[in-house]
Amino acid sequence: MKSKIRRIAINTGGGDAPGLNGVIRAVVLAALARGWEVMGIRKGYLGLLDTSQLIPLTRESVRGIAHLGGTILGTSNKGNPFEMPVKLPDGEVTTVDRSAEVVENFHRLGFDALITIGGDGSMRIAHGLAEKGVPVVGVPKTIDNDLEETDVTFGFETAVSVATEAIDRLHSTAEAHERVFVVEVMGRYAGWIALASGLAGGADVILIPEIEYSLEAIARKIQDREARGRHFSIVVAAEGARPAGGELHVLGPKEAGREVRLGGIGELVAAEITAATGKETRSVVLGHLQRGGRPTAYDRLLALRFGAAAVRLVAAHKFNVMVALDPPTVRAVPLSRAIRRMKNVPLDCDMIESARELGICLGEALGE
Ligand code: F6P
Repeated sequence: MKSKIRRIAINTGGGDAPGLNGVIRAVVLAALARGWEVMGIRKGYLGLLDTSQLIPLTRESVRGIAHLGGTILGTSNKGNPFEMPVKLPDGEVTTVDRSAEVVENFHRLGFDALITIGGDGSMRIAHGLAEKGVPVVGVPKTIDNDLEETDVTFGFETAVSVATEAIDRLHSTAEAHERVFVVEVMGRYAGWIALASGLAGGADVILIPEIEYSLEAIARKIQDREARGRHFSIVVAAEGARPAGGELHVLGPKEAGREVRLGGIGELVAAEITAATGKETRSVVLGHLQRGGRPTAYDRLLALRFGAAAVRLVAAHKFNVMVALDPPTVRAVPLSRAIRRMKNVPLDCDMIESARELGICLGEALGE
């Protein structure tokens, strides 16, 4: 016989994404409606190592939060219990596995299930904990949209809207000054944000990690526009874009227990364009503007649907799964499938095809 659910825990891990508070609200309301108690764990999994900061979540705690950015629970991208950074006496930083403590604390606190909201890293941790006996349901979040098995993650649409608005705004100043602008967007190793915002915003060049770029192709596109009397151009560069045979642009060395930070490709491409074309070229890094602030209605709705669906899965004792959008419905997929690989932009997808048909340069080497 399945044990009765009485008390569940919820946390938000990894980088924040617009919509996190919507999931929390839906989980709390749907759980309270079933007579369950809900405890919020602070700062991702860190709150299951230092359990002094658990927050009881009530109807009042989640009132009016669905439209707010960030997360009322806080988050951390340095909180992987399987790889916790520790400083050695010689100053070097290494990692230790503290997952057993997390599992022990989870059971000691009398939780019957954990709903964890996060990206690929958090889902990998969730899977690891599920393998150690923690009943987990995952909720996919990331502005990068790089999680497998779900049509889309919440946060992505908001990031694309912010980037599109930025591209729209840069058009007028680019045209007024006859300049080239390179807009660097987030997305880590996937080009979803760059491709979607570049298409929607009418960029002339879009550089994504999935296609190594040729500077010659970019310069040719800008020069062709010049020849047609279009004396400005907009280039959208994903932070993970790189030149043919070149390296990823990273900000500093990788820290133990953390993902390497990407960035700087926009400035590099801008300098290369100036050198190749003689055009005055500026770069703009959109950075965390894409992650902050209120979620769009689409992301808010998706977040609420995901939260309610996660509670339904807990009620059905379906664990080691992640909720996933499979239009028109939300279904459960095994966490093992969701973390199998990263969801990159498929080169044969219609967005790539459409970009080419609209005359947008994707940085592909000339003659390809
Ligand atoms: O995964 C979301 C994301 O915003 C990526 O697009 C970006 O590379 C990374 O997080 C930035 O992380 P941080 O906020 O830790 O610098």
